[in-house]
Amino acid sequence: MATLGFVGLGTMGGRMAKRLLDAGRRVVGYNRTPEKARALVAAGLTLEKSPRAVAEASDAVFSMVTDSAALRAIALGPDGVIAGLQPGAVWAEMSTVSPDVTRELGHAVAARGATLIDAPVSGSPRASHGDRADDHPRGGAGARGHDEDRDESRSRRPDARVQ
Ligand SMILES: NC(=O)c1ccc[n+]([C@@H]2O[C@H](COP(=O)([O-])OP(=O)(O)OC[C@H]3O[C@@H](n4cnc5c(N)ncnc54)[C@H](OP(=O)(O)O)[C@@H]3O)[C@@H](O)[C@H]2O)c1
Repeated sequence: MATLGFVGLGTMGGRMAKRLLDAGRRVVGYNRTPEKARALVAAGLTLEKSPRAVAEASDAVFSMVTDSAALRAIALGPDGVIAGLQPGAVWAEMSTVSPDVTRELGHAVAARGATLIDAPVSGSPRASHGDRADDHPRGGAGARGHDEDRDESRSRRPDARVQ
């Protein structure tokens, strides 16, 4: 079974990770404030000490953090996601962030032989927990982040769903 990584276990990310656990997936995770992940650990999530450790342990990584600054914090540096990505790994980044930051990170991820999928989410905590949350994937390696790309991807995948 593939191991899924989840960085950012807040209101949205925590509920998405719980859905993956409920579906029987093996999930490793990281949250800046580890105490907030207690319920997920009780539900079976393995908590790692850094975003890098999550990426090193995962076939695919998901992230859901506050904003561009938070994304840079979990992505870059010796303990960041990028430092731990394996060649061939996929990172689905779902936070609401600047396209410029996504593009910058996409190039760094591609340089490691991995793929960044820019997949911002609309919906609500309720949707991400038990109902549905729509994602809007916008590209692979060197992820694209233009607004026009977002419109294009919506027309391609109107019902894309975070499982
Ligand atoms: N809530 C919604 O209805 C909704 C709907 C659609 C999209 N979104 C988008 O989803 C994203 C997450 O929203 P949320 O509601 O889940 O927010 P949240 O509950 O405040 O969770 C934010 C997460 O980001 C982490 N974080 C923040 N700054 C960080 C940093 N500098 N370094 C490492 N981790 C950091 C937090 O860690 P700590 O626990 O340590 O603070 C937490 O895990 C946002 O981009 C938001 O726009 C939210």
